[in-house]
Amino acid sequence: MLKLAAYADRLSVRPGETIRFHVASETGAPVATRVVRVASADPNPALGGVRVAAVSASVREVVPPAPQTVPRGSYGVVRCPDAIVTPDGFTIAALVMVNARFIEGSAIVSLQSADGAAGVALALDEQGHVWGCAPALGVPVRVARPLAEGVWHRVWLVYDRAGGRIRVGQQALAAGAATGAVSMVESQGDLGAGLAISTILFGAMGESNDPFRLDGRIERPMIFDRALTEAELTNAFAGVDVAGLAACWDFSKDIPTDRIVDVGPRGLQGRLVNSPARAMTGAAWTGREMCWRHAPEQYGAIHFHSDDVDDCGWPVTHELVVPSDMASGQYALMLESGAETENVPFFVVPPKGKPTAKLAVLVSTFTYTVYGNHARPEWQMDPKWQAAWRAQAQEWSAYPHNPGDHTEYGLSTYNYHPDGSGISLASWHRPMLNLRVGYFTYPYPQIRGSGQRHYPADTHLTAWLEAKAIPYDIITDWELHHEGLDILKGYQAVVTGTHPEYHTREMLDALAAYKEAGGRFMYLGGNGFYWKIALNPAKPGQIEIRRGEGGIRAWAAEPGEYYNQYDGEYGGLWRRNGRPPQHLVGVGFTAQGNFVGSHYRIDEAARASRASWILDGVAGDILGKHGFSGHGAAGFELDRADKKLGTPAHAVILASSEDHPPEAPWILVPEERLTHLVTLPGEPESDLIRADLVFFETAGGRGAVFSTGSITWCGSLPTDGFDNDVSRVTENVLRRFLDPAPFAR
Ligand SMILES: [Fe+2]
Repeated sequence: MLKLAAYADRLSVRPGETIRFHVASETGAPVATRVVRVASADPNPALGGVRVAAVSASVREVVPPAPQTVPRGSYGVVRCPDAIVTPDGFTIAALVMVNARFIEGSAIVSLQSADGAAGVALALDEQGHVWGCAPALGVPVRVARPLAEGVWHRVWLVYDRAGGRIRVGQQALAAGAATGAVSMVESQGDLGAGLAISTILFGAMGESNDPFRLDGRIERPMIFDRALTEAELTNAFAGVDVAGLAACWDFSKDIPTDRIVDVGPRGLQGRLVNSPARAMTGAAWTGREMCWRHAPEQYGAIHFHSDDVDDCGWPVTHELVVPSDMASGQYALMLESGAETENVPFFVVPPKGKPTAKLAVLVSTFTYTVYGNHARPEWQMDPKWQAAWRAQAQEWSAYPHNPGDHTEYGLSTYNYHPDGSGISLASWHRPMLNLRVGYFTYPYPQIRGSGQRHYPADTHLTAWLEAKAIPYDIITDWELHHEGLDILKGYQAVVTGTHPEYHTREMLDALAAYKEAGGRFMYLGGNGFYWKIALNPAKPGQIEIRRGEGGIRAWAAEPGEYYNQYDGEYGGLWRRNGRPPQHLVGVGFTAQGNFVGSHYRIDEAARASRASWILDGVAGDILGKHGFSGHGAAGFELDRADKKLGTPAHAVILASSEDHPPEAPWILVPEERLTHLVTLPGEPESDLIRADLVFFETAGGRGAVFSTGSITWCGSLPTDGFDNDVSRVTENVLRRFLDPAPFAR
């Protein structure tokens, strides 16, 4: 845990609205706060380091920050108003599947008394043996054969007090059928006369920071108020009515929510804590249906994870009522306590319907959240890299904490859960250490430059705007999703940052409507508009990504699990959903390499084209051979034009990048590769590893789009005091885009 840590309840806020901060402090000292406007979040000394300016905005301390913990691990909880089991006997049964990792005592189903002193659980030991345990039993009753990894099993615990016996068993399933041998153990035992159960838990032994959380899937847990025979158990698992059913939770119901539904006689509804993954294939998935909405009975599993964190739940310690005259922009709450510092960036959006500039900078807060607490593979696998990062953080006085060091806040959707499953749900209700003023991603400045991505990298753009004295408003993904075209239409031009990668349908619809209504759109990044996300309809700040089917991806969604749990739509790439990025911005993701940049070569024909004005003031045919992101304007993730994928026929390709250094192998995106010899476009792979600089008009010349197709473009803006060829091209486009005169074609 950090000694001083914090998060906000929202990432964007309007004048007059309140933003609340949740601060945890172990320093024992008072916590001082101040609000700053962020001019540059890049700590690179070559750019003068982080630049912030104090603003007058009074932050109210609601309660003094205190030490806090992070509640980790997802589970289900049901409260029982009356005795669900009799002391004379009961049966617990469920389906379960686990992967590589087991935790001593990790619970499948746990029945607890109000004080936790009495109860019984059906659980797993660290080798994957099913066991029954209870305080009254002492030694657990353990099945000899462990569960097979990645295989669904029936598991059960039967207690018969009159006979003084407890039986625990398991049986493997294949395609939903019980084909494996029954493994069972029976023991003498007496759970006593007073088993007053008040709470039932799925995937947890207890509620408060219980170390025995499950990594694995549970389906259809059932409780009977008597001891079932083997034949009755078989019937119960087969869905046949068996006398004595007290409760049966059908996890295929209410999938988009955190509710769990009891279809038994008492209707004991429960809820999920810390957002486990739903819409997961269950034991009965046949492979004939891919969408959970079409065959919910095949999607009755919930995948619990011991490291899920959807909300730290710390008390509100500070709040800021944004002053009515606070200018739209990038701000941060700076915190200081003893020797510790922390910062929480946030974005002030202009009052609704009242733009204060002709230009809007669209800040990719959803992408920031999806990347929140990305523990990089280099950090996890390369001690030299890690040491280099630490040394550079100290040398640069950069933000000193790395998500790889602080898994307690939950990792990103670019990481894995402990059992190897991909993290599909992201939340901003927790400290996100890579969304910080002064954070840098990559060490080795001789190769990577500032090594900036996301939020700090995007301040290269806003610092450039301020250097050029071009007024701008900030808007974010949140407003784009919720307000659509309304938030855009007051602006003559809208510009993105380096990496607007994650979008909902509403966001793409709004941007498409804007450009078709005559808006001017500048996409100054790479790998944009790539993945489709869904928002939790019940909780702002929670985002889902299913890494389905294709794409450059950190993990792969399992077959049959490409449909989002929150909105039931097919997830994955927008390209697989009929909306390749080329439709919107003329270019789309084509290749990825390491975080290094190269240059563009200007197309001679472009000098003679109707878009030649974009190149005014740029001599020669090389563009962007410099920069603070990988030392080149075209790097890391590249997008190219492709008419088959939607680039308009009249688009002008002004320049294309080349000479991408083989410091690491560049790869074509998998969706563009067919065989080892053949690519989808039919061109050699080497020709497809390029960024295209593209311009095209929309709405009969009233609107226009300019795209750079590279994630490192904005890193070249600050070179030579913002006076360079990339700066010149960007300024040519932006000044023209801000001029409402239509484009002649
Ligand atoms: Fe990305």
